[in-house]
Amino acid sequence: MPFTRADFPPGFLFGAATSAYQIEGHAQGGAGSTHWDTFAATPGNVVRAEDGARACDHLNRMEGDLDLVAGANLDVYRFSASWARVLPEGRGTVNAEGLDFYDRLVDGLLARGLKPALTLYHWELPSALADLGGWRNRDIADWFADYTQVLCSRIGDRLWSAAPINEPWCVAWMSHFMGHHAPGMRDIRAAARAMHHVGLAHGRAIAAMRALGMTNLGAVCNFEYAEPAEDTPEARASARRYDGIYNRWFLGGMFHGVWPADVLEGLEPHMPERWQDDMETIKAPVDWLGINYYTRKRIAPAPGPWPALTDIDGPLPKTQMGWEIYPEGLYHFLRFAHDHYTRGIPIHVTENGMANPDVPGQPDLPRIAYIGAHLEQVRRAIADGVPVGGYYVWSLLDNYEWSFGYEKRFGLVHVDFDSLQRRPKASYDALTRALARD
Ligand code: NOJ
Repeated sequence: MPFTRADFPPGFLFGAATSAYQIEGHAQGGAGSTHWDTFAATPGNVVRAEDGARACDHLNRMEGDLDLVAGANLDVYRFSASWARVLPEGRGTVNAEGLDFYDRLVDGLLARGLKPALTLYHWELPSALADLGGWRNRDIADWFADYTQVLCSRIGDRLWSAAPINEPWCVAWMSHFMGHHAPGMRDIRAAARAMHHVGLAHGRAIAAMRALGMTNLGAVCNFEYAEPAEDTPEARASARRYDGIYNRWFLGGMFHGVWPADVLEGLEPHMPERWQDDMETIKAPVDWLGINYYTRKRIAPAPGPWPALTDIDGPLPKTQMGWEIYPEGLYHFLRFAHDHYTRGIPIHVTENGMANPDVPGQPDLPRIAYIGAHLEQVRRAIADGVPVGGYYVWSLLDNYEWSFGYEKRFGLVHVDFDSLQRRPKASYDALTRALARD
């Protein structure tokens, strides 16, 4: 790695991130069915119709996986809890085995000197709640606050940080307008409702955690740099619309209590009744912002109804996902969030990393370069006065990459999905050396 710990301010935290459905093995341990199980079982949604039933079998290999986090000299482990593992029906009866698992996970982290960073929702909605309309139903804010209360009453006293919802844009827009993720809808009315209810559920969960006396609560949003595909007013306007939906909607709601006017131009006719009354709740103060950043998109106008845009192939080198590598975009969003929204609270890079077609024995040099280049942009932002508090690699392990199945490998550690054997990659070793504490 082209850096060491000493190149960052004292107290800067390095971490690795995972999520429950992507690693645990959802079929085990008494978890209830989720909308990702049924999305994956529906032809055409997921490569080879793969699902998270077994994944990395982290449920049974958790202690060894935590040893890998500690072994890399990392400070923070960002993980998620599965709502349906805690409450198989989404509400009501608790799965004691599930709560026990997260309890042991948190204790296991603390025993290794690692900081536990919880995400409450990383995409697998209990099927029983999906049947009631899921994120389209306003009641989800109550259900989510109740789940938050159940889980955090048990583990909230020992967490280092907690965030309600991973990547609200993906939960709302990608899943209800683009149809790429569960529940696979392509419907502007569903999308508008989800865009609002995700914000409301976020605010309610923050309030529920504050009521339990928890501190260091944040929001984890994803960002993509929107570049006009050509130098025309039309392309610039479409890139601006993309930027609004993707990057400014949730920042606006969560930090200013205002959904951005240029996005409301398209969504307002489809918003739930009296949505304005919820903005104070959505604006619940947070202690930090998490930025998940991977790539940029080149945006061009497209025929059809609002938002009338498309993304087109770009010229930069790409990862295994086909995503252009554009580290400057990370600097842009660190500055942008700090200058316009977060006003001095810490910003953490809660996800960054690359998929690469790794095979054991071949060093994953592109990943080392990717991480190094993005950390260079983090240092630039810090030098310019942005209070960046940490950087977490996505991901600790190769895992279930949602609609791409198991083919796309994001891990610092290689996983053989037949034997489930873990093998640290060259990037893991390089990070371990760079982060050594003297
Ligand atoms: C963001 C998501 O939080 C995570 O679940 C996903 O695997 C990575 N990006 C890579 O696509």
